[in-house]
Amino acid sequence: MTGKILVAATGKGGAGKSTTVACLATYWQRANRKVALVDADPNQTLTRWHAKGNALSSMTLRTQLDEHAMIDTLGDLAGDHDLVMVDCAGFGNQAMVFAIGAADIVLIPVMTDEANIFEALRTRKIVDSASQLTKRMIMARTLLCRVKRAAVADHARSQLETLRADPLAAQLNDRVAFQEATFHGSSPTVLSPGSPAAQDIEALAAELEQLIWPRTPF
Ligand SMILES: Nc1ncnc2c1ncn2[C@@H]1O[C@H](COP(=O)(O)OP(=O)(O)O)[C@@H](O)[C@H]1O
Ligand SMILES: [Mg+2]
Repeated sequence: MTGKILVAATGKGGAGKSTTVACLATYWQRANRKVALVDADPNQTLTRWHAKGNALSSMTLRTQLDEHAMIDTLGDLAGDHDLVMVDCAGFGNQAMVFAIGAADIVLIPVMTDEANIFEALRTRKIVDSASQLTKRMIMARTLLCRVKRAAVADHARSQLETLRADPLAAQLNDRVAFQEATFHGSSPTVLSPGSPAAQDIEALAAELEQLIWPRTPF
């Protein structure tokens, strides 16, 4: 088995990396995909959530703070999981660069303001450089997170499109359910199935699945 590697990265803290990783991981685990988590953030947000004994706890987790071990760790985990999801620190560091270099897809969470878009573009450039370096195409998509107003999200999305930052159609809206889930080390998919937050995750997962596991025509 050679699993896929999804890396959540952006130089902006608080954009929604850890939340997105936790929620998507829970969603796919429940859809019978074997998911491994890698916490590459010295703040160890994901590691704390994983320790809470809920949805995340049944997944393999490696807290990988030594950047030089990153590639080996990802290779090991991809060997016996369908998907390895890496949660990066909120600042560009070597661990992030190595994880991006090993990624199949990089998900760049962006909040709807100028500084977030600026950081997303920097992360996007790191992905492009990693693609050149490794001589393979590493996909990258931006994801609007913590969206409070549709009009601002539309504006941010059109900016991202103009700047060729490939925004996903799906977005995660600002919802208390996402904050609540962090206290439990879980996700709205489990805590409030069918809720608007759970629907946000479902739509995002569906869009990403087409990129990660494209159906080959027969
Ligand atoms: N879609 C959302 N709606 C509401 N709150 C959110 C959402 N996504 C993240 N948050 C909250 O925003 C804060 C930062 O999110 P987090 O996922 O930890 O970001 P990062 O890992 O990028 O630093 C947390 O308090 C989290 O609960
Ligand atoms: Mg985080």
